[in-house]
Amino acid sequence: MLGRVNHIAIAVPDLGAATTTYRDTLGARVSQAQALPEHGVTVVFVELPNTKVELLEPLGPDSPIAAFLEKNPSGGMHHICYEVDDIIAARDQLKAVGARVLGDGNPKTGAHGKPVLFLHPKDFNGTLVELEQV
Ligand code: CO
Repeated sequence: MLGRVNHIAIAVPDLGAATTTYRDTLGARVSQAQALPEHGVTVVFVELPNTKVELLEPLGPDSPIAAFLEKNPSGGMHHICYEVDDIIAARDQLKAVGARVLGDGNPKTGAHGKPVLFLHPKDFNGTLVELEQV
């Protein structure tokens, strides 16, 4: 079912500071900040040779990462995103074995314009899992 790691997402309290760390301290190529109001985050992409890191900062009062940052004030790994060929087939296969799909169970359009779903961290070793159809 799983393909490549599409990205690893890190929630950060200060996107400017995190971008500086990745660009200047770690010497990585970073994108411009991109506001995604429909997802409640502002994101910077760190482009690596084999995958991406997404730095996520809360945007707006109902940001889905606000509670995470309350528990992890200096930031932390928020989710890992795996690529799948067929997100509906993957969802149905996972639901059939009792895995919990977050939200209404239907894919939403993710940060890269592709359909995504999130899986409950309690079913996957304490890690929030995103599936993205590529
Ligand atoms: Co993601």
